[in-house]
Amino acid sequence: MRGADHVRIGETPGSVVSPLPARAASISVGPVVHDEPHRDRARESQRPTRIRLARAIAVTSGKGGVGKTNLAVNLAIALAGQRRVCLLDADLGMANADLLCGLSPRTTLEDVILGGRSIEEVMILAPGGFRLVPGASGVASVANLGLEGRRRLLAQLASLERTTDLILIDTAAGIASNSIAFAAAAHTVLVAVTPEPTSITDAYGAIKTIITKVRTPNLKLIVNMVNDRDEGEEVFRRIDRVSRTFLDTPLELAGIVPFDLAVRACVKKREPVLLAQPDCPASRAIRAIARGLIDSESTEQPGCIDPSAFSEARSGFLTRLAGWLARG
Ligand SMILES: Nc1ncnc2c1ncn2[C@@H]1O[C@H](COP(=O)(O)OP(=O)(O)O)[C@@H](O)[C@H]1O
Ligand SMILES: [Mg+2]
Repeated sequence: MRGADHVRIGETPGSVVSPLPARAASISVGPVVHDEPHRDRARESQRPTRIRLARAIAVTSGKGGVGKTNLAVNLAIALAGQRRVCLLDADLGMANADLLCGLSPRTTLEDVILGGRSIEEVMILAPGGFRLVPGASGVASVANLGLEGRRRLLAQLASLERTTDLILIDTAAGIASNSIAFAAAAHTVLVAVTPEPTSITDAYGAIKTIITKVRTPNLKLIVNMVNDRDEGEEVFRRIDRVSRTFLDTPLELAGIVPFDLAVRACVKKREPVLLAQPDCPASRAIRAIARGLIDSESTEQPGCIDPSAFSEARSGFLTRLAGWLARG
C-alpha cells in the first residue's frame, strides 16, 4: 500500500469508485434485447445470455521513455467522453499513471494481487472521467507470481471486463513476459515509438516478439515526439517495411504526435495535457488517435460472445490473458 494524503469521497477525481456507474447505453451486460415481441418469452428464455466484453487496448513499446504513459492517460481521457474507460496501469516496474494524473492512491494493483482487495476497491476516478487501476511499483512481474496470485488477478480482471467498455493497459517497456501477456491478450496493441534509432530498433524487437509468440490481429504504431509529420511517416514506413519483409505482417499507423513542450510542462505539474492544454498540438494529435480507435471498433471482432463459448472465446481479453499467464 502506498501512503495517501488526499483521497476524497464522492464522485470527484481521486475518489474510490465502487461499483462502476453505467454510462454507455450501448453496452449490455446480461440478457440482450431480442427483436421478437414479449409474447415469445418462452423461446426467449431458452436463448443463451450474451455478454458484451470490454475491448482491450494495450499501449506498449520496445524502449522506455517514449511516452507510453502519457499516451495511455490522455487517450483514456479522450475516449472517456464516449465510452466507460478503465486504465489499468500494468507497468509493474515503474507504474506512474497515477502521478501523471496528480493522484496519490491509497491502494494499488499490488493490493489486488497480494492483499486480497477487489479491483473495484482500488479503482479510482481520475481527472477527465476515466477509472484508473493504479499500478504496483516494484512488484515482481505478473509472470513471476504464484498460481494463487495469478488466479486472483484474473478473477478480478473478469469483473472489470464486464463493467467497462474499454480497458486501456499501460504496459512495461520491452519484452518482459507480463508486457507480452497483456499485449497478446488485447484486441489492439498500440506500439509507441519515437524517431530515435534505438527506439525504432527496440520497437521492431517488441513487434517481432509479439507477432512470433501470438497471432496479434491488430498492431498499430504511434510515432511520438516527432519534429513534423514527414518524420513520423518515415518512421512508420521503415518499421512497416521491415515487418512486412521479415514478419510478413503489415502494420497500421494509429497516429503521429509532435514533440510538444506543453507535454513536459504538464508532466511537471502532474496534470494530463489533454485537460490542461487541450488545444496544444500534442493534445490535438492524441484526440485524432482516439477518434481513429473509435472508428476502427466496427471493423474489429466485437467482444460479444455466448457464455457457453466462453472458454474458447477468441475475442475475450481475459481468456487470452489467462492462457498466457498459464503458460508463464
Ligand atoms: N509528445 C511529447 N512531447 C514532448 N515530450 C513528451 C511527449 N510525450 C512524452 N514526453 C515526455 O517523455 C517523457 C517520458 O514519457 P512517459 O509517458 O513517462 O514514457 P514511458 O511511459 O514510455 O516511459 C516524459 O518526461 C514526457 O513528458
Ligand atoms: Mg510509463
